[in-house]
Amino acid sequence: MFKVLVTDHISSVGLDILNNDEEIELDYQPEIQWSELLEIISDYDAIITRSRTPVTEELLERAKRLKVVGRAGVGVDNVDLEAASRRGILVVNTPGANTVGAAELTIAHMYAVLRKLHLAHESMLQGEWNRKKFMGEELDGKVVGIIGLGNVGSQVAIRCKAAGSKVIAYDPYIPREKGDRLGVELVDTLEELIRRSDIVTLHCPLTEETRGMIGRKEFEMMKDGVYFINCARGGIVDEDAMYDFMKKGKFAGIGLDVYGKEPPDDRIRRIFEFPNISLSPHIGANTYESQDKVAIKIAKQVIAALKGQFVEAA
Ligand code: MLT
Repeated sequence: MFKVLVTDHISSVGLDILNNDEEIELDYQPEIQWSELLEIISDYDAIITRSRTPVTEELLERAKRLKVVGRAGVGVDNVDLEAASRRGILVVNTPGANTVGAAELTIAHMYAVLRKLHLAHESMLQGEWNRKKFMGEELDGKVVGIIGLGNVGSQVAIRCKAAGSKVIAYDPYIPREKGDRLGVELVDTLEELIRRSDIVTLHCPLTEETRGMIGRKEFEMMKDGVYFINCARGGIVDEDAMYDFMKKGKFAGIGLDVYGKEPPDDRIRRIFEFPNISLSPHIGANTYESQDKVAIKIAKQVIAALKGQFVEAA
């Protein structure tokens, strides 16, 4: 029997797959605390996590039986890949499964800040009826700059093009033909993307290369009155710099789903003072459709990996 520990909430369709496999013993503990996890991890052959559980060297050190880490999602920035690979532990994830959820949330944040929808909602709740106050802007005709034209970035591009935007993208790993296929102009430098965009949206993974990639220099280069959206990872942005530029009046709107520290601390929360900011608590993948796809995929991947069948590593 293989013992599998699930430490985050995943959809029941994935749990059913694990439960119905005769070789799997499932332990579902989506609210497990870190200290308890450290105590029990040595009993398990596989762990399935989302972004709540960091799979650190400290955890892996104690995980004497562990063969597989299943990341129910795409980002593996909360997994110490190097420490896992040193121990021969396979890390698998579910690229593509929550793409639409993340792309649609991005578009929702764009419209929220373009139309100040969250502020209009709040004003209605206060009993006001103030139509003059809520003049907005249209996505139609805007230059949308996408940083990272992978799965999510491509779906955002398709949706923005359907809305009438001119879409440009910066992604040094994507061939020009992909841009051509999507009708997206791939630009050669981050600087060009940033200088030309009315809306800048991030869709790259958090890696050593992208950590802090959007900092003072980049905010300085953005157009005054830019809309800035981050539904990728907080660590890609220097949040202190974002706060300083927010104070200087750089942005027309900010949409954030992710933060350098989650839940965000007071230092990050300073940015929330900005009036036209649309916020969500890392819910890009939180749709029933995406979560079903993610859970099915990760359950199958982990079972296959435990049984020594072919799986693609993260
Ligand atoms: C992802 O990396 O796909 C998401 O952040 C997953 C999640 O919601 O935990």
